[in-house]
Amino acid sequence: SPPPVRAIRGEILHFLGDPVEHGAAALEHFADGVLVVRDGYVAELGDSDALLAKLSAETPIEDFRGKLILPGFVDTHVHYAQSDIIASYGEQLLTWLEKYTYPAERHFANPAHAAAVAEFFCDELLRNGTTSASAFATVHPASVDALFAAALKRRMRLIVGKVLMDRNCPDFVRDSAAGGYAESRALIEKWHGRERLLYAVTPRFAATSTPEQMRLAGRLLAEYPGVYLQSHVAENRGEVAWIAELYPEARSYLDVYERFGQLGPRSVFAHCIWLDDTDRARMAASGAAMSFCPTSNLFLGSGLFDLDRAQALGVRVGIGTDVGAGTSFSMLRTLSEAYKVLQLNGQRLSAERAFYLATLGGARSLYLDDCIGSFAPGREADFVVLDPAATPLLARRSAACATLAERLFVLMMLGDDRAVAETWVLGEPAWRRG
Ligand code: GUN
Ligand code: ZN
Repeated sequence: SPPPVRAIRGEILHFLGDPVEHGAAALEHFADGVLVVRDGYVAELGDSDALLAKLSAETPIEDFRGKLILPGFVDTHVHYAQSDIIASYGEQLLTWLEKYTYPAERHFANPAHAAAVAEFFCDELLRNGTTSASAFATVHPASVDALFAAALKRRMRLIVGKVLMDRNCPDFVRDSAAGGYAESRALIEKWHGRERLLYAVTPRFAATSTPEQMRLAGRLLAEYPGVYLQSHVAENRGEVAWIAELYPEARSYLDVYERFGQLGPRSVFAHCIWLDDTDRARMAASGAAMSFCPTSNLFLGSGLFDLDRAQALGVRVGIGTDVGAGTSFSMLRTLSEAYKVLQLNGQRLSAERAFYLATLGGARSLYLDDCIGSFAPGREADFVVLDPAATPLLARRSAACATLAERLFVLMMLGDDRAVAETWVLGEPAWRRG
């Protein structure tokens, strides 16, 4: 059995708050630090000089000097069933769904297929330093069982839900309002709150659910406090126009979800591109979160997320890879694309803020910051060990950096899975490079 106490030594960085609000005080950095982990939880964090002297001689020390240790990344929006259609050519959202997505998701009726992809998906998250995610399964209940089982085996904290869609999609991925409700209930009873696993009611988007299914999705949230909701909103202009036809009574696309009781704390909406400030204010007031998915937004030609307006109106924001419309499982690559999306919008993303969003910010957007996202005492000890010299280019460019901010920026612009040396879950190694 693993040692009850472990010490992790290296350069350590985590966030106590949002750098936009708190500046330099938002971050805690130890050039030579030690993270003390007891029974999988953070016990203490500090300078190695002070902490090493306090530890008993038997405490095993994991030496990562020369590497940078951060809380495990939090991917706030991803589709495990789309692992096999990443990089599918040539379409925007609605035709991409018809041509690639629904046919791929059909195969998850087969539990053996679902299990194989779930195993691959969880391994891929860990290879990329991602220890928590909010993930869509497919319409098939067995696809949810498969992903929860794979996460349970790896002790990862995952939020997962069965997709609800009872119209405007092929029959082979369609449920019914009553059937989807009953299946969701059974999955909540089976999985929500088991170990680190959490359930999300998952209407795919308002276009593929009837008003009756939308009503029942809202009812599930009311019946099971603490359960999540995940969906998509205002991603693509053609989609927005379609929603206006389907729900002529709604003030906006976001308003459809609000009318059906789906907007509140623990509601996570991917994309949020074509919103107005009334929508943003509603999201802020309700406690719902946006998932900014830059590689997806660029790949599908959807549009440019407005982080400054989200910030100005006080909306919770996390980062999502949105694989398979997103083009990478790497949160580092996703941060670099986020930077470029914001550049196109005349906005800036500092490295400190980017890494905040990928860790504590994501955890806050999911109301999980009391469990994950930082190294505050009592947090679950999930962390990633980054190698700033993982490639010749990274090594060369990092060596030329004078400040922590510069080194972080180089890591996020040039890093990917190769920069992830190790990933630890609940104080134990879960993935090692090479
Ligand atoms: N909108 C509805 N379904 C999807 C999906 O699977 N991916 C993305 N990016 N947008 C969606
Ligand atoms: Zn998505």
